[in-house]
Amino acid sequence: MIADIVVDLQYGDCGKGKIAHALCRENSYTHVIRYNGGCNAGHTIYHEGKKFVTHHIPCGVFFGIKSIIGPGCVVHTDTFLKELEELEKAGIPAKKLVHIATNAHLITDFHKAEDGKDEKIGTTKKGNGPAYRDKYARRGVRAKDDPRLQPYIISMYHELYENEEYNEIEILFEGAQGFGLDVDWGDYPYVTSSHCTVGSALLNGVPPKAIRDVWGVAKIYETYVGAKNFEGPDEIFDTIREIGQEYGATTGRPRQINWLDFDMLKMATRINGCTKVVFNKMDVLEGLNSWCLYDGPNLYQFEEKTDIETWLSGKLELEVDEDIEVMFSGDKERI
Ligand code: IMP
Ligand code: MG
Repeated sequence: MIADIVVDLQYGDCGKGKIAHALCRENSYTHVIRYNGGCNAGHTIYHEGKKFVTHHIPCGVFFGIKSIIGPGCVVHTDTFLKELEELEKAGIPAKKLVHIATNAHLITDFHKAEDGKDEKIGTTKKGNGPAYRDKYARRGVRAKDDPRLQPYIISMYHELYENEEYNEIEILFEGAQGFGLDVDWGDYPYVTSSHCTVGSALLNGVPPKAIRDVWGVAKIYETYVGAKNFEGPDEIFDTIREIGQEYGATTGRPRQINWLDFDMLKMATRINGCTKVVFNKMDVLEGLNSWCLYDGPNLYQFEEKTDIETWLSGKLELEVDEDIEVMFSGDKERI
C-alpha cells in the first residue's frame, strides 16, 4: 500500500484542492480519501476549464478514481446529496465513485442549528463542532445508520485489506482546513474541531509505513477566516484580498490577510514530516512586486520574487530537512 498525503500548513484555503487535482492527474491512485472535517471545507477546483467548489466530496471523482469520505470526517446528508447531484449535472459520474466510511459521523440539523448561534469562534456554522463533540461524547450517529446514505457506505477495512479488486492500493489523502486550525496545534480556541495533520490521515486505517510523500501546501501570504483579529496593518492587504479573491469558498466571508509567518510554517512542516512544500498564489504578489514575511518578530522585505524563493527554500532545507523539495506556484497554472 502506498499513500501520499496533502496537508495545509496554514489556516486552510491554501490550494489543497489544486494540488490534489494535479496529483490525481499525474499518479495512478486507486483511492482518494478525505480524512477530516465536514462541509465546513470549501475546495475550489478548476477541472477542464470549469470551476467547482466541493465541500464533502474528494477530488478523485474528477478522474474516475474511487473517492472515500473517511472515518475521520463528519457528513451532513442533505449537503452531501446535493453536492453529488450538482457534480452529476456537470457530467462528473460522482454517484458511482463516491463512498462514505461506515464509521464516519453525521452532522445533524440540530448540530447545524446549534453551530449557527456561534459568535465566539467565528465558525462556518455548518455544525462541525457539535458533531465532533457528540462523536467523542459517544452519543453521535454514524453514517451507516442513515438510510439515505446506504448506497454509498463502505467498510474501510474491507476496502483496504480484503479487496481482491486491487493488486496494489495507492491512496491520495486529501485534508481539509489547516495546521493553524488544528484542534491541538492551532491557536485554541480559534480552531476547528478535527485534526488537520498527517496523524489525522493515518487514523483512517492506513499504516505509517505506507506513506510515500507528504505534500505541505501553503500560500506566499497568509489568510484566516474567523472571530480573532488576524489582519496586519498594511494597506496592501486590501489589494491582495481583491487580486487573490480571498473570500471564503463556503461562507463568502472576506479572509483576513497577513504576511507569511515562517515560524509557524516551519513548525507545520516539521510536525507533518513534509517531503514537498508548495507555495501557492505567487502570481498575486508578483503583480504587486511586494514580497514580505515574518521570521520571528522581524518583518523581512525582499526585492524580488527569486529572493524570497531562495530564502524560503534555503531555510526549509537548513532547518527542516535537507532533502525537502520546495516549489512555488501561481494560479496561472490552473488546471
Ligand atoms: P468550524 O470548522 O466551522 O467549526 O470553524 C472553526 C474555524 O475554522 C473558523 O475560524 C472557520 O472560519 C475556520 N474554518 C473551518 N473550515 C475552514 C476552511 O475550510 N477554510 C478556512 N477556514 C476554515
Ligand atoms: Mg477552502
